[in-house]
Amino acid sequence: RQGVVQIPVVVHVVWNTAQQNISDAQIQSQMDVLNLDFREKNPDISQVPAAFQGLIADARVEFFLASRAPDGGPTQGITRTQTNTASFQSDDRVKSQATGGADPWPADRYLNLWVCNLAGGLLGYAQFPGGPAATDGVVITYTAFGTTGTAAAPFNLGRTTTHEIGHWFNMYHIWGDDGTGCKGSDEVLDTPNQAGPNTGVPNFPCISCNNGPNGDMFMNYMDYVDDLSMVMFSLGQVERLDACLDGPRQSFVT
Ligand code: ARG
Ligand code: ZN
Repeated sequence: RQGVVQIPVVVHVVWNTAQQNISDAQIQSQMDVLNLDFREKNPDISQVPAAFQGLIADARVEFFLASRAPDGGPTQGITRTQTNTASFQSDDRVKSQATGGADPWPADRYLNLWVCNLAGGLLGYAQFPGGPAATDGVVITYTAFGTTGTAAAPFNLGRTTTHEIGHWFNMYHIWGDDGTGCKGSDEVLDTPNQAGPNTGVPNFPCISCNNGPNGDMFMNYMDYVDDLSMVMFSLGQVERLDACLDGPRQSFVT
């Protein structure tokens, strides 16, 4: 692929309490994080241990709030919808006006991000490429979006959105989603085989599945560590992103 792909984003703020109606500044803070993380420009990338530094990848994707609405008119790339729904789940109801949410903009031209109150401690969820257009996109809870306003530690550095957009580009969890076994794979060769998710703020090395001496690549966006501990995509993961942009999401490459 030549050059950097620019992804138009629409953020659908679906709010029940006034606090959930997050500010434009909080939305912009999330866009800023994405444009650092997907270009390996995030300053905290210096945390990557020497053993993994050669695997850090520039995803060559940038994001901007859409300036044209689906009808061609001007827009800020933000929609705001008041809802009677106190909290949402991973059942996609937030993605339709008929079920208390907001309808997506055409999924072949926009990355749809919904920000709402997610129940039960769920930080966010994503749809992988190849699914129905009506539910395509990413949902993030309002306390884990951006870096200001309602963003709350330890998920206040915008990394939930980075992680979920990783899924939207067809990346799997780094431990392979097999619970805590060593059989599951993320289908990426340069990420060490890893037992289960890491959480919190791990210390290097975190060894599992006989992957010593360097252990798990827990500082990867596709693990489950706190926002301040996840700082990189690997070259192999970005190969999956590239394949996605050559395939199911090629409409975003102009
Ligand atoms: N879907 C995951 C969850 O809700 C997202 C985890 C994101 N992790 C993070 N440190 N921001 O649990
Ligand atoms: Zn995930």
